[in-house]
Amino acid sequence: MFKKRHLLSMREFSREEMDSVLETAASLEPFARGKRSDMLSGKILALLFFEPSTRTRMSFETAMKRLGGSTINLGSAEASSIAKGESLADTVRVVGGYADAIVIRHPKEGSARLAAEFSPVPVLNAGDGAGHHPTQTLLDLYTIKKERHLEGISIALVGDLKYGRTVHSLAYALSLYGAEITLISPPTLRMPDQIKSDLSSRGTIVREASDLGEVMGSIDVLYVTRIQKERFPDPVEYNKVAKSYRITPESLQQMNQGLIVMHPLPRVDEISPEVDMTSHAVYFKQSFYGVPVRMALLKMMLEDEGGQEQ
Ligand code: NCD
Repeated sequence: MFKKRHLLSMREFSREEMDSVLETAASLEPFARGKRSDMLSGKILALLFFEPSTRTRMSFETAMKRLGGSTINLGSAEASSIAKGESLADTVRVVGGYADAIVIRHPKEGSARLAAEFSPVPVLNAGDGAGHHPTQTLLDLYTIKKERHLEGISIALVGDLKYGRTVHSLAYALSLYGAEITLISPPTLRMPDQIKSDLSSRGTIVREASDLGEVMGSIDVLYVTRIQKERFPDPVEYNKVAKSYRITPESLQQMNQGLIVMHPLPRVDEISPEVDMTSHAVYFKQSFYGVPVRMALLKMMLEDEGGQEQ
């Protein structure tokens, strides 16, 4: 299903494909927790991160290493030939000769797609500017499935819906699971029209609100995001919206008992630390689930048919 295939956005994912990743991830959880495996022994994953990352980069590394594979890392762009003016296309062509797959994160929208055009091996998009972040979505789906259920949930996506790539990808995926989606953002950070119209044409119920109070009591999942400071062309505009939302134990009091609060992390001050202690908080589990989910993707893409060749 995923052999030799690039993973660039959730738009081109079917529900059957998502389900098979989630099932494989569940079967790999013991390995994510330390059980030994050599499923990907001899395989090499290249990590090309042109933007900061903690979870995505380290969970890909962990996933690969726990399955017996290894990773090579571009390191900082300043330390590589990018600093000499090498193009992304050339870098990817070269690195694709060293590795069996490439994970790329880049500030420019469309860069993963560009990399895929030149890469001799599968490319996984780990975030392209304000575009997409499909592997985050798969771990988000895994979290929702484990902590609630996936079918027909009511979810509020809160925060920076304009520049936040995690919510772009997640909305596409949820539209295939009959979700009702409420979009809550400052007026200047609304979900792009193209995505909203794609969701509607998939038959998804999408509402917009500017305040959390409007959805109290009716939602199962609160998906909170960071305002993406680095994407604002003008810092003055960022300062106007910087502290728009803050989830506290008090603001959760009027919510459903079983409500789960998710966040792709890093958080700045959208969720107060006191929320961590409540039963609603699942964001640290969510970041752990990045390991079994990325293991599943790597296994499905890279494992040799009939086991490892000696
Ligand atoms: C997100 C990202 O990089 O898009 N982080 C992540 O991958 N977990 C969210 C963010 O940076 O706000």
